[in-house]
Amino acid sequence: MRQVLFDTARDIRERAHAPYSRYFVGAALLSEAGAVHSGCNVENGAYPEGWCAETSAIAHMVAAALPGPGRRIAEICVVADRIEGRLVTPCGGCRQRLAEFGSPETLVHASDPNGGSQTYRLADLLPAAFALDDGR
Ligand code: THU
Repeated sequence: MRQVLFDTARDIRERAHAPYSRYFVGAALLSEAGAVHSGCNVENGAYPEGWCAETSAIAHMVAAALPGPGRRIAEICVVADRIEGRLVTPCGGCRQRLAEFGSPETLVHASDPNGGSQTYRLADLLPAAFALDDGR
């Protein structure tokens, strides 16, 4: 994994708005155009309205880049504390959002704040994914 992805995800994690779960998450993605976009989780007092760090990073990418390589996800790093010793992988909804802008070969790095990390292919996290052909 590129160091800049881990560093960016670890740093933006500090910005998380997570007063309810107190579980802070940061994400940083590398687009196929070589740009880095990042985000953190943003919770809400109406609990189901919160959103994940991965979703924030995707929104920043979409806002910053027109359709094309700048909107394609090559890699994403997610930084959060381990839960019962296990690294945290994206939730189901975020896996589907990553599939919208990634490919089966998109790399997902699940990292703890100390740099411990495990890498998955998106195809392994979301097998047999639902996908519509949007003409990309
Ligand atoms: N969360 C993320 O931001 N990304 C993940 O991959 C897992 C979960 C957030 C959602 C919620 O704000 C908090 O972590 C606890 O679930």
